[in-house]
Amino acid sequence: MSESIHVDYSTRIPNNVGLAEDARVRRALEKWHPGYLDWWMERGPDGFQQALVYLRTAVSVDPRGWAVFDFVRMPEYKWGILLAPKVEGRTIPFGRHRGEPAWQEVPGEYRAMLRRLIVIQGDTEPASVEQQRHLGKTAPSLYDLRNLFQVNVEEGRHLWAMVYLLFKYFGRDGREEAEELLRRQSGSQDAPRMLGAFNEETPDWLSFFMFTFFTDRDGKMQLEALAQSGFDPLSRTCRFMLTEEAHHMFVGETGVGRIIERTCQAMREAGIDDPTDVERVRRLGVIDLPLVQKKMNLHFSLTLDLFGSEISTNAANAFEAGLKGRFREDKIDDDHRLEHDTYPVPRVVDGEIRIEQVPALTALNCRLRDDYIRDCQGGVNRWNRIIRKYGYEFELRLPHPGFHRKIGEFRGHHVSPEGKLLDAAQWEARKGAWLPNDDDQAFVEELMATPEYRPGHYARWIAPPKSGINNKPGDFEYVKLHP
Ligand SMILES: [Fe+2]
Ligand SMILES: [Fe+2]
Repeated sequence: MSESIHVDYSTRIPNNVGLAEDARVRRALEKWHPGYLDWWMERGPDGFQQALVYLRTAVSVDPRGWAVFDFVRMPEYKWGILLAPKVEGRTIPFGRHRGEPAWQEVPGEYRAMLRRLIVIQGDTEPASVEQQRHLGKTAPSLYDLRNLFQVNVEEGRHLWAMVYLLFKYFGRDGREEAEELLRRQSGSQDAPRMLGAFNEETPDWLSFFMFTFFTDRDGKMQLEALAQSGFDPLSRTCRFMLTEEAHHMFVGETGVGRIIERTCQAMREAGIDDPTDVERVRRLGVIDLPLVQKKMNLHFSLTLDLFGSEISTNAANAFEAGLKGRFREDKIDDDHRLEHDTYPVPRVVDGEIRIEQVPALTALNCRLRDDYIRDCQGGVNRWNRIIRKYGYEFELRLPHPGFHRKIGEFRGHHVSPEGKLLDAAQWEARKGAWLPNDDDQAFVEELMATPEYRPGHYARWIAPPKSGINNKPGDFEYVKLHP
């Protein structure tokens, strides 16, 4: 890939970080780019690399027109480096340095902690692209195929965003970390991605929509917390990433919503009054609501593990240092130091789940998780409204935060979706009713085995969207498969 050396990087990479004048960082990016493209070709979308995809590309940070839409071959996508505009006079919003001017350079004493935060965030971005790489082959429509690829290229751009920070502010060890971000691989035995949920499979489109609803929303929460950072370049980077992240959650929420819509329609047409009559519903070629609930339980619980232990000194240290704040820190009315505050954390004590007051600084992961759960609940309520619109009693529910957990206070315990502690035998007996079992997965994969690539057509298990991307008409050819 030596031709990439001749690419004019000052114009090739949309950026507002003065790349044209920054020869050192430009050279580092030029060196990294071929490896990135190799990664994209080998571990990004399987197939479709020659297809023309109707994608939006971030070209500026102007809120009224930051993106352009056009047909692009994915390997030629312009992965830009864009930071939200600098806020003059910004100060560190929390922690022991609260009120001091925000850092424009890395504060030496926190260098290692800061680098770790950036690397952990960076690692999730390529991971989800790897997890989703086979989905194009079973896309339910060109509209959905385009949305998948939009999410994928933007996760790629988010990787660029983190790599830029590593190159710009962390010298040689930053360059080493950037290489590692391309080396680790989702699901790998010897070099897995750093966080558990990013090593799970995304085997089907229901999982993809659940992933973008639940796991991309964890991304949103982490970005919100980092957008508060006293390290200004990180704050500005994350603020801009959030504008793209909103679309990922839109894809997830509307994807699941359209599946629910189609299922309810089909049940009504067939005269089915009981949505839990799974076999009858499945014979219609749509996804039963109990299975939607199971997939929800799975992706919600995997994602809660991403918040880390409810009680965490790492989280306390990052807050006191002014590096990672709370969700909407700038809107919270308190002293932003939390030295004397407490926060309620559910814990398993003497065979019971109890709420205990814990020093607020160490409970920050739990607090961010609670904010996350509230955010999820809004989307779940909208899904339930669709079900009610068709007159069904069925209600989707987020499981208890202790359900199916591998990290934190509930690790090693068995908790039902309603929040009851169970013994191992009870858990084994019931888990197939709460999480997708082999039969469920076989059903979904068979249902989705054949893709639907005709413009304006949709697989039978999903309703069409209410409107097109960028107001395009219903039969718009979002992906030209053989240009
Ligand atoms: Fe992302
Ligand atoms: Fe995302």
